[in-house]
Order: sequence, then structure tokens, then C-alpha cells
Amino acid sequence: MENKVRIDDVRAALSHVMDPELGADLVSLDMIRNIAIKGDTIAFDLVLTTPACPLKKVLSDNCTAAIAQYISPDYKVEINLTSSKPAQAATDLGELRNVRHIIAVASGKGGVGKSTVAANLALALAKSGKKVALVDADIYGPSIPTMFGLENVQPQGVQEGEKTLLLPIEKYGIKLISIGFFVEADKGLLWRGPMASNALKQLFTETRWGEIDYMVVDLPPGTGDIHITIVQTMPVSGVVMVSSPQQVAIADVKRAAQMFQAVKVPMLGMVENMAWFVPSDMPDKKYYIFGKGACEEYAARMGYPVLAQIPMTEATAMSGDAGMPEVLKDGSPVGKAFMELAQKVMELRNC
Ligand SMILES: Nc1ncnc2c1ncn2[C@@H]1O[C@H](COP(=O)(O)OP(=O)(O)OP(=O)(O)O)[C@@H](O)[C@H]1O
Ligand SMILES: [Mg+2]
Repeated sequence: MENKVRIDDVRAALSHVMDPELGADLVSLDMIRNIAIKGDTIAFDLVLTTPACPLKKVLSDNCTAAIAQYISPDYKVEINLTSSKPAQAATDLGELRNVRHIIAVASGKGGVGKSTVAANLALALAKSGKKVALVDADIYGPSIPTMFGLENVQPQGVQEGEKTLLLPIEKYGIKLISIGFFVEADKGLLWRGPMASNALKQLFTETRWGEIDYMVVDLPPGTGDIHITIVQTMPVSGVVMVSSPQQVAIADVKRAAQMFQAVKVPMLGMVENMAWFVPSDMPDKKYYIFGKGACEEYAARMGYPVLAQIPMTEATAMSGDAGMPEVLKDGSPVGKAFMELAQKVMELRNC
């Protein structure tokens, strides 16, 4: 066979292969790397967004078919399936340098329990013996100060060389910083655009965290500039996606999940919050008031694990304002579910 095929030809052929989930071709998505042509073999890496990508067979079959169609069926095609690493932090890590894992808690839409999950997951990791930080990055509605009973707290600054570093607030054994510590409670929205991004970057990189095993980040709902800033400037290890069981919430989750995939931050899995209602006087009952199965079905289709199903209880609803998250109370079914979630997260991030 004449060996005239060039790397650009391979790239052009593979640009006909679409990723149906992300709605773009594999070359534009930077999923094709290290193309090599050796005799009658065309080899390349197909970089998947998660190792468990359910589309891997379809995508690799379509690549082989595209080479046959647009170059020649005579070539052997060798596809090396790999998965992408988290986006590397583009900026100086500053005080994040001793933080081992950053776990972002995201959701497709607001009000599904993202802050509840972030707060309880952070405390569950601490109860499991880890050194934990919690960052409330929700510029639209920071709720961590209320959830921890820290409404009027102001973090102190310490001078270190040329820089002033913030000291995180410590409560229930974890270190906390909230964007809410820097604004008055009645002012809903704080900053927009680049100002918000810069303020957040500062919160992360100029707070004296010390040694931290897990930093849990409560993101704003949905997708937007803030999410992009965080995943591109912080070495986020993975995302926990929170959803409630309604169909509509699942559709929003899908959009958010696609954004994280596009910026190559691994999806650790989903948390189904308010999966069923448990009445306080009948702790063995389960009422599926928002329907059943939609979250599991979606997660299975996308190849994400469901890391936890969190029941809905009156005590959890009250705990948001009471300044004491549910996982701190012994014997609570919600607390137990959060301890299991922490266990899964530790297994996934293997430490
Ligand atoms: N499992 C649960 N059981 C009972 N109530 C819950 C549960 N999870 C969350 N809630 C309640 O639902 C409301 C919304 O929860 P939360 O503030 O955690 O959501 P969120 O996704 O962070 O919202 P936002 O988009 O406004 O930031 C709160 O009042 C909270 O106490
Ligand atoms: Mg919130």
C-alpha cells in the first residue's frame, strides 16, 4: 500500500465523527491525540471524558468507519482509549498547594440541595478523620454562613510577607470560607463577571488553609462564568452532581454535566437528594413524592454512579436555619446517607 496518508488526513477524516452527548466532533473536542501512521496502521488516542464512558464502543467504531470511508478501508486502525486528566490549574495555586483533593458540588438548577449536600459531605469527611475545608462559592445565594450559624462572622487577615492572607473560620472541625462573609445578608447578588471571578480566585488561593485532605466547594447552580473560572483555575479533582428526582431537574443536570465534560473535569457521580420522604413519626416509611427512578436511569445512561440517595426529612429542612447540619446528629437517616457518601468519595479519590 502506498503510504501517502498524512496526519492531517486522519484528523480530517475523524472530524466527521460526532460525540452525540457533547454535540461536537471529536477533533474539535480535542479527543483525538497522538496520531501516528506506521505502514498500513493508523494509530491514535481517543481521549474519553470518563473511563466508564458508555459511548466508547460507538465512538471507536465510528472512528474506524470514518477512516475506512474518508481514507481507505485497507488501513488497520489502532485506537488507544484513554481518559482525560482534570484540567490543570493555570494560575499559581497559592495557599491551595497543600490541598490534596478539591471536590466540587454542582447542580443543574437551584434549590435541589446543593448546599445541604456540600455542608454535610464536608462534615461527614471530617467525621471520617479527614482534614476538611468547605468553600461557599455561590455568589448568587451563599447559604453556608446560615447553615453553620455564622451569620455575623468576619474572617481575620494575617500579613505574610507582602500578602494579606485570610484565616478561615473553624466550626465543627472544618475550615470554612464563604463569599457570604464579605457582603451584607440583604444584598442578594454581590459581584458580576470578572470581579466575581477574581474575588473567588482570591478566596481560594489567599486563604491560609494549611494541610487539607478534602476541600468541598459549593458552586452556584447551573453553568456559567463562575464554574468555568473555578474549573480552569483550580485543580478540581471531580464533581459531585446533585439532583432531585423530578424529570425537569434531570434535564438541567445533563446540561451541567456536559459543561464539566467539555472542560475535562471528571464526574465522580450523582447524588439524588430528596429521593424519598421519611416522616419523623414513621422512620421506616418511604414516600416517593417526587417520583422514582429518573435519577438512577439518567446516571446509568451516562455511565455515572449514583453515589448516594438522600432522604427528605423535616429535621433536614429545619437544620438549614438551625446552624447545625444533619450529619452531626446521631441516628439520623440523612446523616447515615451522608456518611456513606463520604465513604464513596474517599474510595473514588483513593485516600
Ligand atoms: N434532604 C433534605 N430534606 C429536607 N430538606 C432539604 C433536604 N435537602 C435540602 N433541603 C432543604 O431544601 C432547601 C434547599 O436546599 P439547599 O439550600 O441545600 O439547596 P441549593 O441547591 O443549595 O439551593 P440554591 O440553588 O439556592 O443554592 C433548604 O431549605 C434545605 O433545608
Ligand atoms: Mg445553595
